[in-house]
Amino acid sequence: MKIVICGKGGSGKSTISALLSKAMANKGYRVLVIDSDESNFGLHRQLGMELPEDLMNYFGGKKVILERMRASFQNVDAKSGPPKIEIFDKMWTLNDIPDEYTTEKNGIMLLAVGKIHEFGEGCACAMGVLSTGMLEHLETDDKEVVIVDTDAGVEHFGRGVEHGCDIILVVVDPTFESLMLSKKIEELAGTIKKPVYFILNKVDDESRQVMLASVDRNGIAGIIPANNDVFRACLAGEELDLRLAEINDLANLLGGEKREK
Ligand SMILES: Nc1ncnc2c1ncn2[C@@H]1O[C@H](COP(=O)(O)OP(=O)(O)OP(=O)(O)O)[C@@H](O)[C@H]1O
Ligand SMILES: [Mg+2]
Repeated sequence: MKIVICGKGGSGKSTISALLSKAMANKGYRVLVIDSDESNFGLHRQLGMELPEDLMNYFGGKKVILERMRASFQNVDAKSGPPKIEIFDKMWTLNDIPDEYTTEKNGIMLLAVGKIHEFGEGCACAMGVLSTGMLEHLETDDKEVVIVDTDAGVEHFGRGVEHGCDIILVVVDPTFESLMLSKKIEELAGTIKKPVYFILNKVDDESRQVMLASVDRNGIAGIIPANNDVFRACLAGEELDLRLAEINDLANLLGGEKREK
């Protein structure tokens, strides 16, 4: 199962990715977390791990991928849309991922596609190309879960990153922008016929009804309350070493099991 976690900036994508990964690992799944957000340096801390070396370096680094992209764009006429850029020459299982590009803890493997490291190094297109290829070329078995933490917004949909996933989870926080974005994502996911579910996050008594009125109830896979322990751990940059019943329910749902009372 390959799950993409997306949503508005700051809605809680990385927090939900980390908590859900831990809950899935606790259920005995082998979990691969793909950090595909080139701009954010917090997910590995939430998982209590070191940030691994960029997977991009395995393929020769950003310049090499940008060069491949440039070559692919030659001989393409403007009307035919963007060309397909092949980075992977075969399918990968989780075992094929080179150890030097992952960190591992308690049944969770973390991989970072690529980060922006230097001023003026160029755009994040190469990261998008690699994320798209990675998801399309990863094979998982029944006891493996891939959780992809994405960058904010919908640029990754424009790049086609979601092509290779099985499920899209949209994290929605109590803001108008987030509620609007959730509709756009539902529309985009619909065009590629991917199942899309919503995780209402940071929900409190005041926001609950407004959020429930705006999001299709049948599509809600979880309602995560605003939680002070989560907030404090995030502020301190600490590992999210807490178990939430609502996240456990979500893990059960994704695993096809009954919800726990
Ligand atoms: N359930 C929650 N309860 C309380 N606070 C939360 C909760 N979920 C997330 N937060 C707060 O929201 C902040 C942003 O969360 P997070 O970094 O996971 O968002 P994000 O969507 O990944 O952001 P970005 O778009 O920058 O990657 C956290 O630092 C934390 O303070
Ligand atoms: Mg994030």
